[in-house]
Amino acid sequence: MYRKKIVAGNWKMNGSVTKNVQLVSALTQSAPDNIEIILAPPALYLSGVKAQLMGSSIALAGQNVAAEGQAGAYTGEISAQMFADIGVSYAIVGHSERRQYYAETDSLVAKKCLRLREQGLKPIICVGESLAERESGQAEAVVSRQLKAVIDYCGVELLADAILAYEPVWAIGTGKTATPHDAQAIHAFLRQLVTIYDKNIANYLPILYGGSVKADNAASLFSMPDIDGALVGGASLVAQDFLAICHAAKASMVG
Ligand code: PGA
Repeated sequence: MYRKKIVAGNWKMNGSVTKNVQLVSALTQSAPDNIEIILAPPALYLSGVKAQLMGSSIALAGQNVAAEGQAGAYTGEISAQMFADIGVSYAIVGHSERRQYYAETDSLVAKKCLRLREQGLKPIICVGESLAERESGQAEAVVSRQLKAVIDYCGVELLADAILAYEPVWAIGTGKTATPHDAQAIHAFLRQLVTIYDKNIANYLPILYGGSVKADNAASLFSMPDIDGALVGGASLVAQDFLAICHAAKASMVG
């Protein structure tokens, strides 16, 4: 099954006007073609980065989105419609930092996915287990619960225009990466789960790995059959590192 590799950079709460200009100009100069590259800067920098990306195929993502669909009195929130309005194509939903620090539940994540679909945006849906959950043998149960909440609420068709990201919480920002074998096992499990609903959608669904992806471990992760790219945090802030990951993704593509 041919699936194009995708590398997404989640800048989290990092960046400045000056730093962003430097980073984006380095990326546009040397980014490889034939893979999909997505950048998720903080929301207030999206328009500036968008202007700088003019003529480039690099796409943009929000890091979060409001669960409310209608414009209104929701202080601090940004709607899917607003992202669509400025030409953003994706938004990350259910990142473990949102689940952990902002108490986002499975059902809230599912609502956000629906808001994105209504506006023609693609969700990058994050799932992943904590260290305690992994150690007690619950990794599959946790990611399955998180993904099923989205499928049950939105329908499996949502996944025809979505990206799934497996991000074990214990690997995010810690320098500990899941081994390619362990990551592959969960990716295959997730794809199998989607197969139960729709085989075709499962076959085409891009499943990214996230959690301390670096230039030196990217190639071995990308060599796994169900790892279709990476959602990169820390290393996406350093042009050389992010570019090396993008080039590893391109090199891993057959043909
Ligand atoms: P990290 O973050 O690459 O810094 O571990 C990954 C993520 O949170 O998406």
